[in-house]
Amino acid sequence: MRILKPTRANIALAAQALEEGKLGIVPTETVYGLAAVATNPAAVKAIFKAKGRPADNPLIHHVADLDGAKELVSEMPEIAVALAHRFWPGPLSLVLPKSDKVLLAATGGLQTVAIRVPAHPVALSLLQRLGQPLAMPSANPFMSLSPTKVPHIDAKLSKKVDFILDGGPARVGIESTVIGVEGDKLILLRPGGLSIEEIEAAAGQAVTIPKKAKRILAPGQYRRHYAPKTRVRLVPSLKPSQAGLVLGPAEGPNQREMPTDPVKYAQRLFDVLFELDELGLRVIYVQRPPAEPAWRAVMDRLRKAASEAD
Ligand code: TXA
Ligand code: MG
Repeated sequence: MRILKPTRANIALAAQALEEGKLGIVPTETVYGLAAVATNPAAVKAIFKAKGRPADNPLIHHVADLDGAKELVSEMPEIAVALAHRFWPGPLSLVLPKSDKVLLAATGGLQTVAIRVPAHPVALSLLQRLGQPLAMPSANPFMSLSPTKVPHIDAKLSKKVDFILDGGPARVGIESTVIGVEGDKLILLRPGGLSIEEIEAAAGQAVTIPKKAKRILAPGQYRRHYAPKTRVRLVPSLKPSQAGLVLGPAEGPNQREMPTDPVKYAQRLFDVLFELDELGLRVIYVQRPPAEPAWRAVMDRLRKAASEAD
């Protein structure tokens, strides 16, 4: 494995390695991704193996632009085109009926494919240079936290890749919002870096938020996910002796003051959890954020970090 500065020459080297079927770790604006050419069956298989990820958990396909996305779908409803124009490049993945170009192994056997155009300049240059879609799950072992900067990347996982492109800290800090497009309907499959309210405003229609049982629509949405090694507990407030994340001023040495703005909170969340996870604490306590729609994606990640294994 080589850690590459994101120069033009190194982006060319990375593209070449991916063309040869190797794996690499690539910065995106949400989290770092474990990348392989999405149309290479052996490389796709290697992604699942490197992460220890179940074969039915579909991979998000990353492309350079809307034309790249069109090649991966059998149908592109108008509403999907409108959302793509408004939010790509950006933290929105659209789930659409797949074309023959998309491997079933990469969609976990589904006839649909999740696609996005990432906004990180390094990911975009790499995709433009490559001219092929990249399958990129978050670059973490199955069930652990997604890395938002290079030092977060798991040592064992980094041995399984050819390169890591260092693009600095991720600007968004949590994964993309995944929206299913069924005809003219929009369905929330995973809350994330783009708020539902913004999507609804742009679409001029409501996004359906399925009840828990329907979550099976998005395989891979396990109850425990994005979890540090240390146990996480959500509480109304922390005692000064308790370590963890607070919304007001920190009172103890192992408390971290988190932003009261949900977008800024998301940006910091995984970094702070990675940091506290290294301290050998018994529990990481997290002060519960307000029960408001703007906090939906953060609450989703916190609940997943806090719940016990399924
Ligand atoms: O921000 C992100 O989306 C990051 C960066 C690297 O782009 N990627 C990411 O991928 O979070 P991953 O593999 O960790 O999450 C993919 C999730 C799946 O677990 C599933 O919930 C949903 O996206 N998904 C993917 N394809 C789907 C499909 N065809 N139908 C329904 N849900 C799908
Ligand atoms: Mg993931």
